[in-house]
Amino acid sequence: IYSVGVTDSEVRIFHGYQTPVGTTYNAFLVVDDQITLIDTVKAKFSQQLLANIKEIIGDKKVDNLICNHVEPDHSGAVPDVVGAYPDIKIFGTANCFKEIAIIYPNTNFANFAVVKALDTLSIGANTFVFYPMPMVHWPDSMATYLQTEKILFSNDAFGQHIGTGVKFDTEMTLDPLYERASDYYANIVLPFGNQVKKIISQVGVLPIEIICPSHGVILTKYIPQIVGWYLDWADNKVDEAKGVIVFDTMWGTTEKMAYVLQKEYLEKGIDMEVISLSHFHYSHAMTRLLTAKYIFVGSPTLNNNMLPSVSAFLTYMKGLKPKNRVALAFGSYGWSGESPMQINDILASCGFEMLPPYKSIWNI
Ligand code: FEO
Repeated sequence: IYSVGVTDSEVRIFHGYQTPVGTTYNAFLVVDDQITLIDTVKAKFSQQLLANIKEIIGDKKVDNLICNHVEPDHSGAVPDVVGAYPDIKIFGTANCFKEIAIIYPNTNFANFAVVKALDTLSIGANTFVFYPMPMVHWPDSMATYLQTEKILFSNDAFGQHIGTGVKFDTEMTLDPLYERASDYYANIVLPFGNQVKKIISQVGVLPIEIICPSHGVILTKYIPQIVGWYLDWADNKVDEAKGVIVFDTMWGTTEKMAYVLQKEYLEKGIDMEVISLSHFHYSHAMTRLLTAKYIFVGSPTLNNNMLPSVSAFLTYMKGLKPKNRVALAFGSYGWSGESPMQINDILASCGFEMLPPYKSIWNI
């Protein structure tokens, strides 16, 4: 079993969220009587993937491609793989077939085999079992279990955007793994807690010695930890003594208000982290919110609105559907003062328990 994916150490924005240390697009090759490729890479790395495969099998052919997920970071090289191995048989869910045929209209998918839960593929001594996991995090998503070796190819589940060249979790300590796994969960997987719990209940009964996600390090040592984190995050389990204050400011008053709130809540024993959207990407704020009970959001009023940076954060956060939070809107203004109520309304529409808005005219 070979790792044939690529490291993308340069990427810093991954479909809208920040990847401070890049990422990997993991693909794996299982060489048996039949040769099977599990997932591919972004299109721009397809030649590197093919070279990695050739280095292992030379002029032999790849017989099967298991397509666990159609998002282009994993399927972008499928057209080139099919071009290099025209007889390759592709395995994926019904949704995978539906989507991939539209995304790559010039690729021949006549050899596509639709698989269902618990279907198997034997390639010699090795047998794969398929576990569709719809909405973790696309309709087509699937995990694949290699019975003989007790390996779960989990695709995006348990991924981490780590593009530093580290291959295995044994080369890391737990804290940086938590940082990257939590960042990944908060920004990609958070809306799908129920689906996460479902797939963990299905594969959790399997003997698993290795998890090979499609991003980041291969997990061997910290499997119980990452599964535990996922179960907590899926339940929106939060720290009652932790919060985040996310704001932007024009002339400093809303910033001062953020620190007033921080001081007030610190005195109550609640650790409030202040995050300025002038200095941090909104996805960083989202990561910090993952386990925080309190979310306070502030903006001054500009042209009868909140600042665009704050609006972007709120749009992003609302889509990721955090639950079980207590929220407060705040902001300074000079005359009309709409922004705190605009923020308040959006936070309320997220289903959060609301505290009264905090407004200040000109200065505090
Ligand atoms: Fe890593 Fe959903 O793609």
